[in-house]
Amino acid sequence: LANRLIRFVRTNAIFGDTHATRLWRIHLKPGCRVKIGSGSIVQCSVRFDRAGALLSVGERTFIGPSLIVIAQEVIIGDDVLLSWGCTVVDHNSHSARFSERSSDVADWSRGRKDWSNVAVEGVTIENRAWVGFNVIILKGVTIGEGAIVGAGSVVTRDVPPWTVVGGNPARIIREVSPNER
Ligand SMILES: CC(C)(COP(=O)(O)OP(=O)(O)OC[C@H]1O[C@@H](n2cnc3c(N)ncnc32)[C@H](O)[C@@H]1OP(=O)(O)O)[C@@H](O)C(=O)NCCC(=O)NCCS
Repeated sequence: LANRLIRFVRTNAIFGDTHATRLWRIHLKPGCRVKIGSGSIVQCSVRFDRAGALLSVGERTFIGPSLIVIAQEVIIGDDVLLSWGCTVVDHNSHSARFSERSSDVADWSRGRKDWSNVAVEGVTIENRAWVGFNVIILKGVTIGEGAIVGAGSVVTRDVPPWTVVGGNPARIIREVSPNER
């Protein structure tokens, strides 16, 4: 494992000067890439589900003990707070049609995965956003700059910049006023 990690870091990872990242929590796939900016603290587990996927974390960002699952890309900006117990996932894992997912488990047990009928869409969390604990962020979502996601929310749609959202599915609660920015 140590050798695999060292090889991965040399070829697929870019780390800023002063990041604190727990590398053993990153489950690798061929060609996946990780970028972590300076001053960031990354305590989450990362599961790359598909080769070539990307995790990019900006500078001075904190990611607590959460789970990020990636088939394509998860892009997290600068000065973001992402709390504990969150799950960020950029795909549905299976087709919504039973006939298209009926052999998923059998394929899986043979080390195969057919992505052709799975909805996959990258997730972006923009600069200065704050995501509370136990939040779920689903495929295709962009959390806008400075937005706040209330604890326990399930985010299925984009969150406009400088708004507070909450609930399942997450809806706008209020604006982040100019004197709170
Ligand atoms: C349920 C799910 C499969 C539906 O996917 P989909 O058919 O692409 O659904 P959409 O993203 O088009 O959303 C359709 C509507 O349902 C809502 N919705 C979707 N998933 C939701 C969820 N988990 N909770 C609450 N509302 C949800 C959306 O907000 C949207 O409503 P709106 O148009 O009023 O905003 C998906 O959203 C989901 O939960 N994915 C995660 C799958 C999973 O758990 N995989 C883990 C490994 S098995």
